[in-house]
Formats: sequence, C-alpha cells, structure tokens
Amino acid sequence: YYVYATKKCDAGEAFYGLGDKSSNLNLRGNRFVNWNTDAYSFGKGQQPLYRTIPFYMGIKEGVSYGIFFDNTFKSQFDFAQEESDKISFWADGGELQYYYIHGPHMMDVVKRYHTLTGTHKLPPMWALGYHQCRWSYYPEKKVKDIARNFRERKIPCDAIHLDIDYMDGYRCFTWNRKYFPDPSAMIKELADDGFKTIVIIDPGIRVDENYSVFKEGKQNNYFCRRCDDYFMEGHVWPGRCQFPDFTNPKVRTWWGGLFKELVDAGVAGVWNDMNEPAVFGAGTFPHDVRHNYDGFHGSHRKAHNVYGMQMVRATYEGLKKLQKNKRPFTITRAGYSGVQRYASVWTGDNVASWEHLKIGIVQLQRLSMSGISFCGTDIGGFSGEPDGELFTRWVQMGVFSPFMRAHSAGDTAEREPWSFGPEFEEINRKFIGLRYRLMPYIYSVFWEHHKHNFPILRPLVMHEQENVLTHGIQDVFTFGDKILVAPVTDAGARHRNVYLPSGIWYNYWTHDMLQGGAEHFVDAPIDSMPIFVKGGAVIPESPLMQHVGEFEVDELMFQVYYSDYEANSFYFEDHDDTFAFEQDIYLEKKYVIKGDESSMILTQSIEGLYTPRYETYDLKIIGLPFIPTKVYIDGKEYTGDLSFDELRRVRIKSNKNFKRIEILA
Ligand code: GLC
Repeated sequence: YYVYATKKCDAGEAFYGLGDKSSNLNLRGNRFVNWNTDAYSFGKGQQPLYRTIPFYMGIKEGVSYGIFFDNTFKSQFDFAQEESDKISFWADGGELQYYYIHGPHMMDVVKRYHTLTGTHKLPPMWALGYHQCRWSYYPEKKVKDIARNFRERKIPCDAIHLDIDYMDGYRCFTWNRKYFPDPSAMIKELADDGFKTIVIIDPGIRVDENYSVFKEGKQNNYFCRRCDDYFMEGHVWPGRCQFPDFTNPKVRTWWGGLFKELVDAGVAGVWNDMNEPAVFGAGTFPHDVRHNYDGFHGSHRKAHNVYGMQMVRATYEGLKKLQKNKRPFTITRAGYSGVQRYASVWTGDNVASWEHLKIGIVQLQRLSMSGISFCGTDIGGFSGEPDGELFTRWVQMGVFSPFMRAHSAGDTAEREPWSFGPEFEEINRKFIGLRYRLMPYIYSVFWEHHKHNFPILRPLVMHEQENVLTHGIQDVFTFGDKILVAPVTDAGARHRNVYLPSGIWYNYWTHDMLQGGAEHFVDAPIDSMPIFVKGGAVIPESPLMQHVGEFEVDELMFQVYYSDYEANSFYFEDHDDTFAFEQDIYLEKKYVIKGDESSMILTQSIEGLYTPRYETYDLKIIGLPFIPTKVYIDGKEYTGDLSFDELRRVRIKSNKNFKRIEILA
C-alpha cells in the first residue's frame, strides 16, 4: 500500500528544499524520488541521488511555509508537474505523518525545521580548514610528500584524507602494513606539522573467517539477514561482504567501539562512504532484508533511507566516547533528515565540468536550506579532468563551501592546488588563504547555526522572498548573512551580473560601495571572484595561517563596514575543539553599528566565560562617508591617527572590552 497527500498549488508558487537534488533551485514543475542511491557521475536533474530529505518549503503570495513528510519509505514529491495546480507527495508504505511549519519568512521555517530535526554539532575549528583528498594517497611516503608540499609552498591545509587503499584488502579497521608500516608514527609526524588524518570506513565487512571484525559480527548476529534467514551478501570494494544492521542499537555500540585502535593511532576524523547502502551490480539491498529498527522491526523498504544515517550516527557516537573531550569530525555520503546531528556531507561522485560546478552551487544551497548546512562538493570534480581554470574557479567557490575538500578519482591526473602550474597555484594559494583569513567569521557562522538554528548558505530568495525576481536566482548566495558570493562558473568569463539584495554592499576587494535592490555588472578576473560584504557588518579576520593550530593572536582584527541603518553582527570564540563551550566556556560577542552623515557608533556586548589571550582589537573602519576628526572609546577621547589608508579605511586600536565607540566628523 502507499500513503499520499495532495494540496492546491497557486500559479506563482515556488518550491525549495528536498536536500541534494541536482535540478534547478526552484523545484516547481518537477517530480522527485527519494531512495538513497550510489549515483556515480550523476547528471543534471538525475535522480534518485544519495540522500532523502523529505522537507520542502513553498512561497505563496510572499508568505513561506514548510512541509516535513517524516516517512522513511521510498517517497515521491510532485511539484505541479502532473497537474499545474496541485502538489502531491506519497510514500510506498509507513504513515502519512507530516508537519506543517508556518513562516511567514523562510528563515522562520528553516529554523523551526531545525528545532524538529537538529543542527550540526559545533565542529572542531580545524575541520573548517582546507582538506586534501584523493583516491588514494599511498604509500606513506606519498602522504608525507603531499603534506610537505603544502608547507613548503605555503598553501594552508588542515587535513589529509586516506581513501580505501590504506586498508588491508579493504578490510575496515585494518592497515595495509606494506604501504603504512607504522601508522601512529606517520600520523604523529603529520600532526606535528599541523595536519589531521582522516580515514574512510565503508559499511561492507569482508566475509573472512580470519578477520576479527567479521568474526565478532557473525558471532553476535550483527549482520543483516534476508527474509529466509540467509545473510545479506553483496560485493563491494573488499569483495564478498556482509553488512552490519546499524538500525540495531547494540550494533551501533559495537561499531562505535571498533574505532578504538584508529583513535589510539591518532586518527582525527572518519569518512563514511557507500552507506546508501551501495552494492555492486544490484545497486543496494533487496527489499526483503530485515532490520531491527530500534526494536520496531521492519524490512529494508522501511530502513533503506536511514541506513547510512544510523551508520554515521554509530561512528559519531563511538568517536565521541573514544576521543574524550574532543569534538568528533565525521563525513557521510548517504543520509536522511536529521543526519546533520552526526555528520557533515559531501555531494558524492560529481564530474570535472563547468556544468557540475553550477550543479554543486545549487546542491549546497539546497542542502543548507534542508537542514544540512555542513556540506561540500568534491572540489575540481571527482571523475574526469578539470583544466587549471575550472579547478581554480572551483577552489574559489570552495572557500565558501561549508565543508572545503578537494577530491579526485584514482584514474585521473594528480589534483593538488599546485598541479596546474605556477599561475593557478598562486591564485589557489590566495583563495585557500582567504578561507583562513575568514576563519573567525566562518566559525562564528557555524556557531549561529548550531546554537541559533540559522542555515549557513542562504540563497537570495531567503533574503527577499517577497521579490519574485529572486525566486529563480541560483548562482549567488550568502555565507551567513554578511558575505555574498557570486562564483564564476563559465570558462573564459571575466565579468558577471550580480543581483544584490536591498541595503548597502561593499566590494570585498576594493571596498567600493554598491546599492542593493539592483543588478550590477562586476569584474571577475581569474585571480578574483566577486565577493560583497553587507553594510553594517563586523567581520573578524585572522592573520594568514598555514593551519588553524597557528591561530594565536595578540590582537584580534575586525573589518567594520559602515551603514546608515542599524545592523547586528556576532563573533564567537572558544577553545576550538573541546566541549567546554557546553559549560559556557565561550564568548559570544554582539556588535551593533549605526551611522549617519556625520557619525558612526559601534557597540559591543559580551556573553560567556571564556578568556582569550589577546588584549586589544585592531579595527579597520570601511566606508565612512565623512572625514573623522574625533573618536571616543567608552567616553574617552582616542589619540591615534585618524587618516584614511589607501583603501579608505581608518584604523582604530581599542581594548577588547570596549562597550561603545563613537566616530565623529
Ligand atoms: C566512492 C566515493 C568516493 C571514493 C571512492 C573510493 O566512489 O564516493 O569519494 O573515493 O568510493 O573509496
């Protein structure tokens, strides 16, 4: 049997959400199916893909609402495709249980969806750095060479990923000792140089009576079985495999404990792949496979779409216990609504093409609106060969992907930031460096997500839903609410059009001021990308660093952007990788800017119990429409230099605890 619902749909209604679909951002006019699938080299509009996020939002006459159809069976959504005045959703089983979420603003809907399904945990700050991955870096010497190149070439990097070849015959939780004779020593050497090591773990466990993980799973009855009680067997990378039933809480606890040796060896993060679950040939498990489903037993029809989420949940919870007070870092390919509580996500096996760069930009915005903010694409494209221009444009976009990782298939040419010659290397260095300069802002945006339920990437429709012009814009987005990004996604393009929502916007590079509520034609040379900062923003910046372990300053820098309306900004800081923030050991700082033709006032209020090491701020005030003559900090006249620098900025040094700064003409 199946369950279904049909609703009326207005002529101009637009639809958003549904996770990772590769079609246009506005879902209207399409039908979608949710059945987690290993979709190697997927194309535009192809489905099903890797994840099931049965949540969408509509905008009806400027007002937004959401529907979360919490049903794990194969589900489908028809957005006025079959009949232009109807939207329908249905599933191949389960209950017709859905939540109506009222707006009126899309932001309210997304925030409420987060209160139902959760947000990402605050990641360790290093996980927000640049990650370098490939299928696969081995042997040990190759891994070290890659690391050394990053440091010698002064390209920042925080993490190196080991794909399946680090294992012994692809047996999870083992090492290939020929390639990696002493993993702890290698991982320590990398760690001493500021690199975290991340390893891949797939769900398929090789059938091998001499392999302890298989033996334990078999003895304890942890592997999935068919309806006739035979084991569920299938071929994946290791050959003939059986698969843990991650919907069983006992299996999850066992699985979590298996990471002990990896954690003891120094592994800092885990990448769960193939967990749709993927099986060569058949695609996935047959429907009759039985699952424990936390005691509410059911077939694979019910468990399929949550299998991957339960796997990465087991991984996350295991790591959390083993790493004591350190925040775990995990990545998953498959997921269901709520997977954000356990992992970051990448969009799977994309292709090195300009079209895929465009698809990725849409997928990341869509994932972010659908609860999964900590997401990224394989920078450069997984299969196929990008040229230097495409790779570099993808790195530029990657700076504003919440998860920033370059990855490539094993049959492609080497794909590191320096692989395309010195000209592109220089640009890649500049942009990966930009990611690190913006790290305090990026980290604060993750805090706003985790703590206050805001999505990280926001399409323009979330800024101006009442303006129908924004409903179809999908190649411009903001990261948090202060930085607007317009990636360049066409070969040879050196200019592009950008619609800026209402308000004042500053060109990040030149500080030129632009009026929002209009489209602008802007420069986009290959060594740049259009980036704009909202007037009234206070953006914390870090000095250039090679990995986040170097983030230790005696003075914190802020770029402060004048506005003639009132605007709020936040800055968050804490110990970076522990759970102390749960006991209020953090600082959440709020800034309010208000300006007019002859004055600007900046106030600061501080909450929390963390004590940073620095004492002072270096504030760069951008965009003042007057020549400042006097500055008061908490009522005391400031005696420093007030002249403009070459970028029309005034620099003010203040104590970190200031409450109010007045800048007067
Ligand atoms: C899958 C993953 C890819 C990985 C490969 C080998 O195709 O999506 O990222 O490199 O398997 O593990």
